[in-house]
Amino acid sequence: MSVSAISTLVSSPVIVVGSGLAGLSAATQLINHDVPVQLLDSFPKAGGNSIKASSGINGAPTRFQALLDSTEAFLNDTIKSAGLAFDQSEGAEKERRQRLVNTLVHDSQSAIYWLVDEQGVDLSAVSVLGGHSAARTHRGGPGSKPPGWSIISTLLENLKQSPLFDLKLHTRVIKVLNEGEEVIGVEVQDATAKDSKKTQRLEGPVVFAAGGFAGDTHGLVKQYRPDLVGYPTTNDYREGTQPLLQEIGAGVVDMKEVQVHPTGFVDPADPTAHVKILAAEVLRGEGGILLAGTGERFVNELGTRAQVTAAIQKTADMIPIPAGAKDPANQQWEVWLVLDKTAAEKMASRLGFYRFKKLMTDMTLGDLQKHLPNALETIKSYSRNISTSTPDPFGRASFGSWTLDPESVDESTPITAGRITPVIHFTMGGVTIDSDTTVINTEGDKIKGLWAAGEITGGLHGDNRLGGSSLLECVVFGRRAGNEAAMWWKAREGQKQQGLKLQENLHKEL
Ligand SMILES: Cc1cc2nc3c(=O)[nH]c(=O)nc-3n(C[C@H](O)[C@H](O)[C@H](O)COP(=O)(O)OP(=O)(O)OC[C@H]3O[C@@H](n4cnc5c(N)ncnc54)[C@H](O)[C@@H]3O)c2cc1C
Ligand SMILES: *[C@@H]1O[C@H](CO)[C@@H](O)[C@H](O)[C@H]1NC(C)=O
Ligand SMILES: *[C@@H]1O[C@H](CO)[C@@H](O)[C@H](O)[C@H]1NC(C)=O
Repeated sequence: MSVSAISTLVSSPVIVVGSGLAGLSAATQLINHDVPVQLLDSFPKAGGNSIKASSGINGAPTRFQALLDSTEAFLNDTIKSAGLAFDQSEGAEKERRQRLVNTLVHDSQSAIYWLVDEQGVDLSAVSVLGGHSAARTHRGGPGSKPPGWSIISTLLENLKQSPLFDLKLHTRVIKVLNEGEEVIGVEVQDATAKDSKKTQRLEGPVVFAAGGFAGDTHGLVKQYRPDLVGYPTTNDYREGTQPLLQEIGAGVVDMKEVQVHPTGFVDPADPTAHVKILAAEVLRGEGGILLAGTGERFVNELGTRAQVTAAIQKTADMIPIPAGAKDPANQQWEVWLVLDKTAAEKMASRLGFYRFKKLMTDMTLGDLQKHLPNALETIKSYSRNISTSTPDPFGRASFGSWTLDPESVDESTPITAGRITPVIHFTMGGVTIDSDTTVINTEGDKIKGLWAAGEITGGLHGDNRLGGSSLLECVVFGRRAGNEAAMWWKAREGQKQQGLKLQENLHKEL
């Protein structure tokens, strides 16, 4: 056996923590560089919150967009959405944020083409999400599975073809190991074991892609945003992992910036549940409107998430919580999401799941009127405004597939509707990274042997993340993390092999 083959066998793989899109993108890149990967996840199933993503992934400009778009327009939208956190930052921090935003936007086209052309994911349909000036959020064509599911399952399937790839589920990282300034591995625990004292050390450089803390209601959410503890969430319950990196000196930013998504479904069977299914933003992008308990519209449904959420809280009534409910999500508002027949047809494959779960129901306008007194009048007037190109009083500029003829609107008009309420959805804050994904410590220096990508990182989105930009950040920065860790690993291997050769020659000479 050659020296290099031996050293490949004995060398430790790059450790990737988290099997969501950021982790899988990093792992794919590492494998492409012929670097072995040990992927770890504490959950029994791979995919994290990424697998639940339901609207799509941004990219501009791409060949799938029918209308003109540009990286500059996407950049402007992103900076506008990032708000004061971006505008008011200064000096080196401002430059860091600018680098992150520029990298996200400029790498967006190649991220989409990488997923489509190299990995084989269908992303041929685009729609406009809130806060975007163009249709640039990509998902699969008619009849396809939701984008998170199709992207994750494709990448995972491709990775499993490689003998260099190893996935360990049920494995929770509880500590990051360092020697001086350098990260040398992690300490893990069997996430299913009753005896939680048993731990194991794994050595190697580490890519951290462990996601956000929007599902850590009673942990980091409570610590940074006690005002949001009563809100339901779209995230599975998971502990935030930023503290593991803070322990070894990593800085964090924007930890108070928690995104509340305006539309989580209120399940009629369990209205006060903490974990809710997201009513994908694309439902509004493709035509859905929001009605308050009065049956009236009250907002541009395609404003940013922060704007729509604020309007709901200002206009809608709070839902009373039954006495005696255990740990209820007690901050909920009465709002309905309504699609006309053509918008519902456009969303048919998605609605199948929501109908099955009884989160959206096919009914007539007469049925809806029973809950929402002015719904019929509103829908007639809204449809008339669209058909006569009357400017929308709330500033909505695109109406998706809503084509209802105002003259035909009566109590028998079929619609599809469900109740929604704002939900904690995403955490903008996280560990500080630079655009090459190295983790920055509280002094502003790079930590060696450690990279981070995806929702665990902070600063890119500022005050508000645009829909579709999270999957994008996972691909863009996940791939970068993979490249950086691969270079690091190869440099180390080079040193090791030189060391081995030296030893061999020494033996020969002796
Ligand atoms: C319902 C829903 C819909 C969404 N829709 C969209 C969308 O359409 N477009 C978009 O851009 N974004 C969307 N998002 C946001 C986006 O999906 C996530 O922000 C993004 O996927 C995060 O990816 P990630 O790889 O950083 O983390 P995740 O996908 O959450 O993966 C992190 C993984 O790390 C593991 N982990 C955590 N801690 C540890 C530990 N200590 N040890 C070992 N493993 C650990 C977790 O178990 C998890 O599997 C949506 C989110 C939700 C919840
Ligand atoms: C982006 O913003 C800059 C600065 O405000 C402006 O000059 C430019 O026209 C904008 N570009 C697009 C495409 O919106
Ligand atoms: C239709 O437009 C008119 C005029 O701007 C406005 O008063 C009305 O509220 C609009 N209807 C709906 C339902 O948006």
